[in-house]
Amino acid sequence: MINQKAPTMAYNLLQGKKGIVFGALDEHSIAWHAAQKIKEEGGSFVLTNAPIALRMGKVYELAKACQAQVIPADATVVEDLERLFRESTEILGGKLDFILHSIGMSPNVRKNKSYGDLDYAWFLKTLDISALSFHKIMQTAEKLDAMNTWGSILGLSYIAAQRNFPGYSDMSQAKAMLESIARSYGYRLGKLKRVRVNTISQSPTYTKAGNGVSGFDKFYEYAHKMSPLGNANAAACADYIVLMFSDLSRMVTMQNLMHDGGFSNSGVTDEIIEML
Ligand SMILES: NC(=O)c1ccc[n+]([C@@H]2O[C@H](COP(=O)([O-])OP(=O)(O)OC[C@H]3O[C@@H](n4cnc5c(N)ncnc54)[C@H](O)[C@@H]3O)[C@@H](O)[C@H]2O)c1
Repeated sequence: MINQKAPTMAYNLLQGKKGIVFGALDEHSIAWHAAQKIKEEGGSFVLTNAPIALRMGKVYELAKACQAQVIPADATVVEDLERLFRESTEILGGKLDFILHSIGMSPNVRKNKSYGDLDYAWFLKTLDISALSFHKIMQTAEKLDAMNTWGSILGLSYIAAQRNFPGYSDMSQAKAMLESIARSYGYRLGKLKRVRVNTISQSPTYTKAGNGVSGFDKFYEYAHKMSPLGNANAAACADYIVLMFSDLSRMVTMQNLMHDGGFSNSGVTDEIIEML
């Protein structure tokens, strides 16, 4: 296992910045690691998740550690989002500099439906939760004029948006849509407010959402062996999120950014050849 050496000191990269973090469920969640890092770097934020996740997960534990407030919101419900943005800007004392969309769920994947036997009502749910919610969040932010100029908005994607990974099922379409929304809304918010919008395409990561994909263990191991740096873990992803929320990345927008240890540009690796 390659040691993913992490920076040991904070750089105050997010000093004075305010935002909303969607999708921290438990200590494995990418958003959980991101919230901790954002806090370390001087940022303040509101944590939000779907009401059921707030009941089942450990969000309040994280909120206590980060001195953050929690506001429930189903990211597919525009009225919830409007309330969330109104209350968040009030709590944080001003407009937002960053938004993390770290949300994904497919009922078809969760219920192990094969790609030839998808339930279409569930397919639409997958798209609504995992992709359309990104648009709803940005449209709400735009209508309420909730973002500061030079703000940064991020979603989390996966390489199944570009290449086929059978177990990923209808989440592949959701990620393709998510990345496309980042481009279209990135253009719009760039013109309107100098706000940038990007997606980070992350390595397989052991989380509630990740483990739901069938054969995840093998999948994880394969990606690890196919990546010269190994799979990027959630803590490394959190570092990248901080970079993308900081002023150091202010001219990057409308991109799908690969955070995968080199997986996406590897044809084959010595480890895979040895296995064969
Ligand atoms: N784990 C991986 O292997 C991996 C790889 C690449 C990308 N991603 C993406 O990273 C993001 C975060 O996932 P994770 O791996 O940290 O898993 P996770 O299960 O910890 O997070 C997913 C979150 O989505 C939230 N959510 C689901 N429905 C919602 C709704 N209607 N409204 C609001 N929130 C809702 C869940 O409550 C949960 O907190 C997702 O977009 C996921 O697709 C994950």
